[in-house]
Amino acid sequence: MSPNAPGPKVSSATAAGGRAPIVGVIVVAAGSGTRLGAARPKAFAPLAGRTILEHSLDSVFGMQRESQVVVVVPSALVDEAASMVTDAAGAAHKYVRVVAGGATRQQSVALGLAELDASVRIVLVHDAARALTPSSVFDAVVTGVAQTASGIVPGVAVTDTIKRVDDDESVVETVDRAELRAVQTPQAFPRAALDAAYAEAEREHTDDAALFAAAGNTVSIIDGDDRAFKITTPWDLRRAEGLLRDTAAPTEGLRTGIGTDVHAFDDSSELWLAGLHWPGERGLSGHSDGDPVCHAITDALLSAAGLGDIGSVFGTADPQFDGAHGDVFLRATLERLTAAGFTVNNVSVQIIGNSPRFSPRRMEAEGLLSGILDAPVSVSATTTDGLGFPGRGEGICAIATAIVSRQYA
Ligand code: CTP
Ligand code: MG
Repeated sequence: MSPNAPGPKVSSATAAGGRAPIVGVIVVAAGSGTRLGAARPKAFAPLAGRTILEHSLDSVFGMQRESQVVVVVPSALVDEAASMVTDAAGAAHKYVRVVAGGATRQQSVALGLAELDASVRIVLVHDAARALTPSSVFDAVVTGVAQTASGIVPGVAVTDTIKRVDDDESVVETVDRAELRAVQTPQAFPRAALDAAYAEAEREHTDDAALFAAAGNTVSIIDGDDRAFKITTPWDLRRAEGLLRDTAAPTEGLRTGIGTDVHAFDDSSELWLAGLHWPGERGLSGHSDGDPVCHAITDALLSAAGLGDIGSVFGTADPQFDGAHGDVFLRATLERLTAAGFTVNNVSVQIIGNSPRFSPRRMEAEGLLSGILDAPVSVSATTTDGLGFPGRGEGICAIATAIVSRQYA
């Protein structure tokens, strides 16, 4: 468990020295998904091996500008969502909250609005159900509000011919579709005007732009994106699955990572290297057991998956990792990658140092590490011809590379 393990509510804090964000994003994910009919509430239903909410969060955290993010979920799922949001936000993100929603979408948005920090000037409201919305749409609506101070809503042309009908389903007229736009989210608004519009709203509106306009404010449309369609029915879910499959060409699923670690020799320590105990060899100093091979692999895997690095994920303050052997880090790292939908393709490590003589135990080390990661791990060793700190016998360095891929179910 990482030191920033989620509690029931992921609290926001101002990053030390950082500037509080002026953009806030409310992701509404508290609906039940009646029309989808999945076993779980819609945002928690699986889409290509992950939840709909996790896909949505990828887009939110892909925004150019650092934003406060408030995720509104069913009250029973606040803890579960908090862990997803923490993972999606990454180590760098200090401004996330997860709160319970209300009986209607409008109430859920209102509960999210109440969580925004005072620094927020522009608010985006986004349906988690629009899971494949590109981050560029988020950036574009922020720019729109900053330039115009009106509400900015993404919309696309209507391609079907639209008929107005009466109670008996008789056609009354054909509506000129050139005048129509199908609107999407994220919808963005100046914060003060949206707060005021919510405070005076007397009835339920179908979107935030309607509520905002009902209070006398201006709303403009910018180009939306076909991928921002709302997953409402099982058919929509299949369409989203298909789009994710199509964009995942075999090589696009592969990601590479690199990790380096160095520990100084410490004659009072036992040597642990590549997950193995080396009785009689000079030990290494450092947090945990000082095994540079396992630590370099951990960094390579985390970097390949974009999940941070060993220091930010397994803080040195966490007593769980005090004196822990390398396998503990590797197992905890693999768990994180698996939860994020990644599998490990292979890992390659090189040890740079004068001692111990590695080759007699290479097979043993590779077998152990491959077994832990359930993927081929190769370990080689070299010296530096007497040059540098490894050459002077001051310590051992390990450099690891990893290739991982995201699984689509
Ligand atoms: N939403 C919400 N709180 C509610 C209702 C809806 O946060 N009380 C959110 C949903 O989670 C969704 C978005 O608003 O991301 C759009 O709503 P919709 O697509 O209608 O989702 P559901 O209400 O979950 O689906 P359904 O209407 O089929 O039950
Ligand atoms: Mg609904």
